[in-house]
Amino acid sequence: MKYKRNFVKDLLKSSKVDLDINVKGWVRTKRGNKQVAFVALNDGSTINNIQIVIDVANFNEELIRDITTGASLSVNGKLVKSMGKGQNIEILANEVEIYGTADPETYPLQKKGHTLEFLREIAHLRFRTNTFGAIFRIRHAMSFAIHKYFNDRNFYYLHTPIVTGSDAEGAGEMFRVTNLDMMNPPKTDEGKIDYSKDFFGKETNLTVSGQLEGELGATALSNIYTFGPTFRAENSNTPRHLAEFWMIEPEMAFYDIHDNMDLAEDFLKFLISYALENCKDDIEFLNKMYDKELIERLNFIVENKFERISYTEAIEVLEKAGQKFEFPVKWGYDLQSEHERYLVEKHYKKPVMVTDYPAIIKAFYMKQNDDGKTVRALDVLFPRIGEIIGGSQREEIYDKLKGKINEMGIPEEEMWWYLETRKFGTVPHSGFGLGFERFILFVTGMSNIRDVIPFPRTPKNAEF
Ligand code: 4AD
Ligand code: MG
Repeated sequence: MKYKRNFVKDLLKSSKVDLDINVKGWVRTKRGNKQVAFVALNDGSTINNIQIVIDVANFNEELIRDITTGASLSVNGKLVKSMGKGQNIEILANEVEIYGTADPETYPLQKKGHTLEFLREIAHLRFRTNTFGAIFRIRHAMSFAIHKYFNDRNFYYLHTPIVTGSDAEGAGEMFRVTNLDMMNPPKTDEGKIDYSKDFFGKETNLTVSGQLEGELGATALSNIYTFGPTFRAENSNTPRHLAEFWMIEPEMAFYDIHDNMDLAEDFLKFLISYALENCKDDIEFLNKMYDKELIERLNFIVENKFERISYTEAIEVLEKAGQKFEFPVKWGYDLQSEHERYLVEKHYKKPVMVTDYPAIIKAFYMKQNDDGKTVRALDVLFPRIGEIIGGSQREEIYDKLKGKINEMGIPEEEMWWYLETRKFGTVPHSGFGLGFERFILFVTGMSNIRDVIPFPRTPKNAEF
């Protein structure tokens, strides 16, 4: 008879016993005595292991010896009710095959706990720990929930380009894409590099945001979202910055800033509820091991309304804080992480949505308010994270947008396609960008962004 492969997750839920089954996975631990060996096997489908009971007398000595932490196995056996404590079911092994051994002298993941810093250095193996199994299952569940949320609400997933010629945020933090000979690039008469000879016939870079192309989609499909990698060459070595991160950017025609805020709040609450319902074991593990207030905090977000204030109000609160900040608090200056966290953690004690920032500190595409000083920007600030979402209502009036592009010295001829959406059938519209890793930081309770993306890209680090 053929043994069918089962995932550990399904076996642990199964109410049927006395079945012949197969499991495959990696050994977490082995204990026992001369008569019997107990192996905890994990296949990544759940944080929980399944216990394999091996009657030593029925197997050759060498095989038993080679079953060590990290070895990969295939086990044929019978699923039975467990007599022991700590598990309901276990597998009585009939046949054990070792795919690959893991030398205990050199395999780095032995039973003792390792620091997150050490595990970052062995990112190729860290998936095999309880912590990273939990994090990356949650990351997957959140990706799935994002698509589900938008699909159920008439949003279309739009694939915006990774290589672009524009700097959407105007912050100049781009990685250049070129195939020119770096040692001997073609030059113009003025001695500058001649990008007309480059692959695309112009200067190109990795995208910092899919928003501008997203707007093109939204002004026809009504609601779109992007979910892709974005790249920023900002030299920020902090626990909240990556050079390559994933962003979710919904863009909605006929939405004003208030509709935008409603969507952002509903979206975040949906995702957190989804995680609480569908990632229970993993979140409970992280709550126990890393952050005792995690579950409480997640529930709190779902159950409470976000605070909505203007930038000007935020400055007033900060001025009255009676607290010394490292960076100045002054109307016209951007809010720094310490200010954001003061507002969220100390003052309002809940997520805060800040709107209507000074135009001078925000991007060119944001809708200008009648006061001539502020724009319809939206930042969503979260406890422990600070800014988790950045967005705005967009300037839909052709002349105002063109004026701003000129004022900021953005070459108009490169923005012709963007401007044309305001020339033909323009509509009020809005959108935002959720930093996926910042959000995963929040949901997992981890504190360094390098631990919530499989292979982090940060200044001076592109290993793996
Ligand atoms: O505020 P940002 O720069 O907004 C935009 O890019 C807009 N085009 C979004 C839009 O309106 N469609 O970035 C959005 C979010 C931030 O709030 C933050 O969560 C995340 O992206 N983010 C980063 N995450 C990790 N590492 C970095 N270096 C990040 N920079 C921004
Ligand atoms: Mg921002």
